[in-house]
Amino acid sequence: MSQLLHVNSSPRGGASQSLAIANAFVDAYRTRKPESKVDTLSLFEDSLPEFGTVAAGAKMAVFSGQEQTPEQADLWAQARAVFDRFAAADEYVFNIPMWNAGVPYVLKHWIDVVSQPGWAFGFDPAAGYSGLLTGKKALVVYSSGVYAQGVSAAFGVDFHSTFFLDWLRFVGITDVTEIRFDGNVMAADPAGLYAKALAEAEAAAAAF
Ligand SMILES: Cc1cc2nc3c(=O)[nH]c(=O)nc-3n(C[C@H](O)[C@H](O)[C@H](O)COP(=O)(O)O)c2cc1C
Repeated sequence: MSQLLHVNSSPRGGASQSLAIANAFVDAYRTRKPESKVDTLSLFEDSLPEFGTVAAGAKMAVFSGQEQTPEQADLWAQARAVFDRFAAADEYVFNIPMWNAGVPYVLKHWIDVVSQPGWAFGFDPAAGYSGLLTGKKALVVYSSGVYAQGVSAAFGVDFHSTFFLDWLRFVGITDVTEIRFDGNVMAADPAGLYAKALAEAEAAAAAF
């Protein structure tokens, strides 16, 4: 039985178009795989452990082989619970609006919590990093108002999908399908662009 984790990084609820496109995928996915389990993580609603002084100290203790303080160990256990929820899935859907050319800060926060040595990645001084979450696949819905692929830098630069795709590869997720609902404010036919993205979401579910 497959397990899908849907990570929603828009705070806009019913107004979010990236969420609606991701939901179209999830609905079609549920129809196709009725036995599968779907978990939904709404990053603007669900709380995450703070990843500040204590967590950074806990991480550096792991890197340097030092024992964590009790406070660091407690924080590390909280981070582990967030990671376990991530790693429990074998399939993912992410919806990610562009915010200031990058990803919304809650998604970066979640990435900083789950991306830990020995959990999400390994490191070898000769070979470099290796992702540990192999054999999984992801669908990613990107939305943006002004930026679109091929525009000049005056309309924005993509640190959004480039960052996120690289992070997926970093943790070992290389089977990735992308849907773009980008430049949706500038598009001559926003409704047509939206309908196309919804159709792509349904087609992606049929092939997942
Ligand atoms: C805080 C914030 C920052 C944004 N920054 C950008 C940006 O840098 N470039 C862009 O093209 N659109 C930007 N937008 C527009 C959103 O990416 C766009 O409206 C997107 O479709 C929203 O997706 P959603 O409906 O799923 O929330 C921004 C929107 C917000 C709220």
